[in-house]
Amino acid sequence: ISLKPYNTFGIDVKAKHFISVNSVDELKDLYASNKYPNKFILGGGSNMLLTKNVEALVIHINLKGKSIVSKTDHEVLIECQAGENWHDFVLWTLKNNYGGLENLSLIPGNVGTSPIQNIGAYGVELKDTFYSCNAINLDTLKEETFYNKDCKFDYRNSIFKQEAKGLYIITSVTFRLSTKNHVLHTNYGAISTELENMNIKNPTIQDISKAVIAIRESKLPNPKEIGNSGSFFKNPVISVSEFKKLQQNFPEVPHYVVSENAIKVPAGWLIETAGFKGKTFGNYGVHKKQALVLVNYGGASGHDILKLSKLIQNTIYRIFKITIEAEVNIF
Ligand code: EPU
Repeated sequence: ISLKPYNTFGIDVKAKHFISVNSVDELKDLYASNKYPNKFILGGGSNMLLTKNVEALVIHINLKGKSIVSKTDHEVLIECQAGENWHDFVLWTLKNNYGGLENLSLIPGNVGTSPIQNIGAYGVELKDTFYSCNAINLDTLKEETFYNKDCKFDYRNSIFKQEAKGLYIITSVTFRLSTKNHVLHTNYGAISTELENMNIKNPTIQDISKAVIAIRESKLPNPKEIGNSGSFFKNPVISVSEFKKLQQNFPEVPHYVVSENAIKVPAGWLIETAGFKGKTFGNYGVHKKQALVLVNYGGASGHDILKLSKLIQNTIYRIFKITIEAEVNIF
């Protein structure tokens, strides 16, 4: 079958064998039998670039459902199954007036893959409300629980991208959300500006979600219309001395201080300054409103986009002496 509907880049590669899995037991059985020795896990397909046909068995994680684990007078623990769509889940929490995920509205992908790269936007990261996740250990085929500390969350990073990579399948995620006295995160410049535009002085969590949706819709292409995987690259973190050199040549470079000797520079700015913003190469290119996003206008191959990403990386290195890393997983 074609994997085109299963990856937000809309890349048309084929899978020889494909199965959509609806229960944890089914998933364990698949791993217990050795009918297909090689397996390829597919979550929301929103953070990967497929560059070739897949010979392995493609397992689509279709675990659904959410439940309240416990409740106090001011917070709830909600367990959500891995196959739920992220944004639909966020909207459901907001409908119930559970606070904590509003800044993460409209991020593509599924709940089960959200911890892997510790998804983040507009001043909030998954780790801020993540309580735990359950994951099948692919060696023992037993479920294990990872609490927040176990996951070693960092900027677009976790244990699931490092030492636990490929060893587990996340089956559900539990979030700790507020039910009253919500803590609002409105410091991120774009959010406060948007709330002002919307004429809202005392925002609710639902207002913040609306503001985030408006900002994202104005900058980021909708994967249903234009194939993309959100930010293709991570924002590079450089040392203060590297930054000083950069600033000498480019005084206007935007930046955020991460720690005493670490400064984050927006890759989008580097790419735009290098002249790539809005550039198209036939049926693929760099998004015109946000240079961090590579787009497939229809019919591009994963190889084309990979080639473009390398051209961008090399050019950025040549001009700025900064290495930018892909955020997207490349297969
Ligand atoms: N910028 C440019 N040109 C561009 C894009 C950005 O100059 O084309 C500069 C601007 O100076 C802007 C700064 O970069 O002030 C930051 O831009 P923006 O607020 O759009 O955020 P970002 O750093 O480009 C990150 C995340 C996004 C997330 C936004 C908002 C990464 C890799 N990306 O982008 O995440 O939505 O912040 O919090 O950290 C994603 O991961 O798929 C994603 C979209």
